[in-house]
Amino acid sequence: KKVILSGIQPTGIFTLGNYIGAVRNWGKMQEDYDCAYFIADLHSLTVRQEPAKLRKQTLDAFALLLACGIDPEKSLVFIQSHVHAHAELSWILSCYSMFGELSRMTQFKDKSAKHVDNVNAGLFTYPALMAADILLYQADFVPVGEDQRQHLEFTRDVAARFNNIYGEVFRMPDAYIPEAGARIMSLQEPTKKMSKSDTNVNAFISILDEPNAIVNKFKRAVTDSETVVCYREGKDGINNLMSIYSVVTGESYDRIERDFAGKGYGDFKLAVGEAVAEELRPIREKFAALTADKAALEALYRKGAETAAHIAERTLGKVKKKLGLLPR
Ligand code: TYM
Repeated sequence: KKVILSGIQPTGIFTLGNYIGAVRNWGKMQEDYDCAYFIADLHSLTVRQEPAKLRKQTLDAFALLLACGIDPEKSLVFIQSHVHAHAELSWILSCYSMFGELSRMTQFKDKSAKHVDNVNAGLFTYPALMAADILLYQADFVPVGEDQRQHLEFTRDVAARFNNIYGEVFRMPDAYIPEAGARIMSLQEPTKKMSKSDTNVNAFISILDEPNAIVNKFKRAVTDSETVVCYREGKDGINNLMSIYSVVTGESYDRIERDFAGKGYGDFKLAVGEAVAEELRPIREKFAALTADKAALEALYRKGAETAAHIAERTLGKVKKKLGLLPR
């Protein structure tokens, strides 16, 4: 079986963007692939975190993965910092990552412009840690949203560079980016990516939002001054709502255009809100049940860490040998 791997940061409850662009697809891949999914807590340290809050958010994020349909019997689920090999390989790969290429990462450019008072080295070498995450497990496919594409290209470049010197150590991973929903936009500024760090709560849907709140946020979603529901250049707000509705209901854009012909934006927004609320309802219920039993969650992530460490150590051992690091 081909190997799938992906991760998500524990910096808050996942948004509808995280869900549609990535996590929703992860559960669906469990039958056909060997899947590994993890909470990227080390990555979240690139921005200052409050310790108690980070601890809670990490456990919540772990529970959310399960609530979104990832089954620990079928997939490997773990927490990044529980597996030492990630940080270790990250250091090694950073010695094969060039200043120039890291400087060109759009995420680094965006984040360093946003957090001017904390442009730390971790923010800069972030892609090397991500490459380590992926390459340790010899992943074939990495299911992510559009915003991670450049990091995947970087991972491939580093893997190729390393393999060129030392032989076939790493498997070459491919990004697996969904055709629809790979970039869900803010409901308030539809030219901007939906993000959980947005200061306007109406701009994003959190996957634990109450049905009422979801419907209301969609009612307030920014659209345009026309009245026709159709997918067209320049209609960023409507395009975004159409892609959300299409992914959630499985209906094509053509079908949606026909179904809403002659109806106003109000009807359409309500339909999108209700469809999303329905889709997320079971997740909210499952999350509540899962977080009620903390000990069970702990047992699951401990078991995940053990299995993950075993796989990761195998790759790390190979790498160290190739490099000429003296065995202990
Ligand atoms: P993160 O935590 O920012 O996001 C998790 C996943 O959600 C996707 N995503 C979106 N998709 C569509 N529309 C949006 N508005 C949207 N916002 C976020 C992201 O593309 C991502 O797939 N660096 C990664 C985490 C990571 C990782 C890895 C991923 C660490 N190591 C190894 C894959 C493999 C990140 O910060 O994702």
